[in-house]
Amino acid sequence: MSETNQAFDHSLVFNPSPEVIARARIKDWDAVKAAADADPQKYWAECASELDWYQTWNQVLDDSKKPFFKWFVGGKTNIVQNAVDRHAESARRNKLAYIWQGEDGSERFMSYGELAHDVNKFANVLKGLGVNRGDRVTIYMGRVLELPIAMLACAKIGAIHSVVYGGFSVDALRGRIQDSQSKVVVTCDGAYVSGKHIDLKDIVDAALYTDPPTPVKDVVVYKRTGKEVRMFNEENRRDHWWHEAMNAASSVCETEVMDAEDPLFILYTSGSTGKPKALLHTHGGYSVYTYATFRAVFDVQEDDRYWCAADPGWITGHSYIVYAPLMNGVTSVVYEGGPSYPAPDRWWSIVAKYRVSILYTAPTAIRGLMRFGADWPKKHDLSSLRLLGSVGEPINPEAWRWFYENIGNSRCPIMDTWWQTETGGFMITPTPVVPLKPGSGTRPFFTIKAEIVDDQGNAVPPESEGYLTILQPWPGMARTIYGDDQRYADTYWSRFPGRYFTGDSARMDKDGYYWIIGRVDDVLKVSGYRFGTAELESALVAHPAVAEAAVIGLPHEVRGNAIYGYVLLRTGHKDSPELREALRNHVAKMVGPIAKPEKVEVVDRLPKTRSGKIMRRLLKARAQGLPEGDISTLEE
Ligand code: WTA
Repeated sequence: MSETNQAFDHSLVFNPSPEVIARARIKDWDAVKAAADADPQKYWAECASELDWYQTWNQVLDDSKKPFFKWFVGGKTNIVQNAVDRHAESARRNKLAYIWQGEDGSERFMSYGELAHDVNKFANVLKGLGVNRGDRVTIYMGRVLELPIAMLACAKIGAIHSVVYGGFSVDALRGRIQDSQSKVVVTCDGAYVSGKHIDLKDIVDAALYTDPPTPVKDVVVYKRTGKEVRMFNEENRRDHWWHEAMNAASSVCETEVMDAEDPLFILYTSGSTGKPKALLHTHGGYSVYTYATFRAVFDVQEDDRYWCAADPGWITGHSYIVYAPLMNGVTSVVYEGGPSYPAPDRWWSIVAKYRVSILYTAPTAIRGLMRFGADWPKKHDLSSLRLLGSVGEPINPEAWRWFYENIGNSRCPIMDTWWQTETGGFMITPTPVVPLKPGSGTRPFFTIKAEIVDDQGNAVPPESEGYLTILQPWPGMARTIYGDDQRYADTYWSRFPGRYFTGDSARMDKDGYYWIIGRVDDVLKVSGYRFGTAELESALVAHPAVAEAAVIGLPHEVRGNAIYGYVLLRTGHKDSPELREALRNHVAKMVGPIAKPEKVEVVDRLPKTRSGKIMRRLLKARAQGLPEGDISTLEE
């Protein structure tokens, strides 16, 4: 199970330099950790008091209805007050919130004051379309600043945003619109990615063309590329141009006073079974958690230029492109397009041009850029960098070294942050003064109590592999699966009663450092993106030629995992290279181009247990030529 982990050296340590320690806000990590762990509620109340509240909470944590925890009970706030309003009313009004670069080289510079202005206007546009507190709005856009503006506008009026990553295709988008029962969709005419035009508006049109119809009555279209699109104007479906609606809207808008526990957004993510589930995050606890983790881990100061190269459509973008950096009043860089377009030094040119000081990305991106060699970053002045970050999957030692030496010039600590859509923010992560071990997220963040356990839930000794669990609640935790409390309790809190089960396996070493091994629950990480084998298999089975399908992930040099599909054909269909190619394309069409399988194989039978469950573990072992392990439950 963990053969790929052998390359990690648990004794290799990189200590912080005197310069890093001198600049760090938190100098004595152990002392802060000890104090926070001794009284978590006190620690979080202190973090919360750095934010604005319309009304202070009267209880930090309510754990009377486990696993449905409540934080900052009785508190009134709105994340937009902290992310936008308070800066726009202060000396930060003219400070840049975002520096944006399009793939075509165009640029935009947006101050906190301008951001507030646009958020207000778009909030009024949404109100004008009849969006009320608690209504859902689906946002399906490319990487333009109107994406955070749309998210913030929803939050401002108490609507719940549901961002769908622009790389998903028609069926995935439709499913999420239907499940969330969104009233409005916000999209773009198109997006530029790696020299290609993604027809976002056409995809929305196709997703909404369905029976039974979706509740969507209005679609707002931001003109990014100028590609001609069809604008509907019918009795039950209206399309509106963003710029026209904005022109007509007032720039004055009151921020809704929200209860700390009121929903802020839902975000779909893949699990081990069934369709993707919508994790729900709230205004209060999520604000405090993302604000505080970002501040501690990236140690942001007023003059930082921060760039998180993820997509806003995933949790990393929600927490650490939009909400946490804005709450901290930081200037962020957003880049629209592909990392190696038109040349492999695109990213490095952006770091140099905007004097980026913190770069947060994913191992898959590092491995992808590493392939082009170290001459590309050498062409640029990367001396503005002081801190690097990694997220999404374990970072292999080779990629760590390359990032550390060639991008950070062996000066910049790498913050390897382990967390999940469900956790809202960083859970296992260093801060800049923590000694690093390449491939380890080091130790749990302040107040976070993790434990690695065996099948029975007993703690395993150091260096042994087991299931990663979290023992106590934290403010940024998802509150539920939208509309399905039972599934939330079953998925996360029943495998090990009383604990949060992460779905990951891990080891802890003798120094208390955590080493994530990977998912243990049929969730695949492909290029850092999260897919469930179940959703990929149902995409394959939806093809008329396929009777049954199994999907596994196999190691891939750049993407971490690659998707492999095994199918049984229906009678009357024959295996051929064309059919296999058609099946790969079919998955790309149903789910998204990022989910296109590396390979689809036609087989005569799938290995199953006697109770009929597909033994993916066995398929995986066979594909890699590894020992088959325990096959006593295999039906023959
Ligand atoms: C994996 C992404 C090792 C892990 C923020 C987790 C990581 C899943 C790391 C969540 C890391 C994330 N080291 N593995 N630093 N960060 N993972 O919900 O398997 O898209 O369970 O959230 O990514 O993926 P998600």
